[in-house]
Amino acid sequence: MTNITRQQFLALVKRLLSAVGAVAILGPVLAYFFPARLEEIPSEPVLVGAKDDLPVGQSKTVRFGRYPALIIHTPDGLRAYSAVCTHFACIVKWDPALGQIVCPCHEGYFNPADGAVISGPPPEPLTGLAVEVVGGQIYVGGTL
Ligand code: FES
Repeated sequence: MTNITRQQFLALVKRLLSAVGAVAILGPVLAYFFPARLEEIPSEPVLVGAKDDLPVGQSKTVRFGRYPALIIHTPDGLRAYSAVCTHFACIVKWDPALGQIVCPCHEGYFNPADGAVISGPPPEPLTGLAVEVVGGQIYVGGTL
């Protein structure tokens, strides 16, 4: 077993802390350039519920594979998106008073009509999901 001097030990600790610091800084930078994605799309449509139970202006969040999906009944019809924010993967919510999809983590705002970013740090729109009504029941399918 080799003995190390105090200076060698301190130099080793310094290098270790530098590496941890670099990871702490580079992690968020890499996450910004490689935004969160919906990685798993269920092979079968997911039942959301009865259309009559989702009046215009209301939303519902359902499990969609490993991730939640947000379904909004807008005045122009039903819209569905992955509820995973494209910034740092927080879960977005519908704000009926504002009429926008909101990410509470860093105040990202999305357009309910197409999922486009209105303001805030998200680098890309929300992933749009196919939505259809069959027999009065709402189903969410694959990506658009
Ligand atoms: Fe949504 Fe940052 S995670 S705005």
